[in-house]
Amino acid sequence: MKKKVTLTVNGEEHEIEIEANRLLLQVLRDTLGLTGTKEGCSIGVCGACSVIIDGRVVSSCLTLAAACAGKKIETIEGLAEDGRLHPLQQAFIEYGGFQCGICTPGQIMAAKSLLDENPKPTEDEVKEWMSGNLCRCTGYYKILEAVMAVVNNKIDPDFAFRKREQTAKIQSLDVYKSVAKTN
Ligand code: FES
Ligand code: FES
Repeated sequence: MKKKVTLTVNGEEHEIEIEANRLLLQVLRDTLGLTGTKEGCSIGVCGACSVIIDGRVVSSCLTLAAACAGKKIETIEGLAEDGRLHPLQQAFIEYGGFQCGICTPGQIMAAKSLLDENPKPTEDEVKEWMSGNLCRCTGYYKILEAVMAVVNNKIDPDFAFRKREQTAKIQSLDVYKSVAKTN
């Protein structure tokens, strides 16, 4: 049987009708189209589906959506403001904190919940906090570096732009090289 609930996601209210057993992860992705939150293990182990509810990081694959009515839900889509990435998003780009990207929204949401509570954690505190978020690609060092860069205020908001510019130059040099060879 369906039930009417109002979910507040990233400050926006959504009135939806859902079955009582619908998981928050399913509702975010399938009903609201917020596909930034990822599904990994589906059993509360990997952290890929992490979102923040009333300031606490939770696994949305283990959370009933109907139980979130009246609570403040934050997902990765809500982090950027006025066209600017959140410092954690910026740091993950700058420090290469991701490869395939499946775990990344969960990593960032977990890190955000820590920094919201404690903006100056030690490296060990970050490691312990983030231990519930698994990554199959990065080896974790880059993720740790990215989070510590935010803690230590070592991010450069123009990094992505400069990097793209550099890549573009390299590509155009390659184009000239092949022309040079044929001449
Ligand atoms: S998908 Fe939820 S913890 Fe893995
Ligand atoms: S970047 Fe691929 S699982 Fe973490």
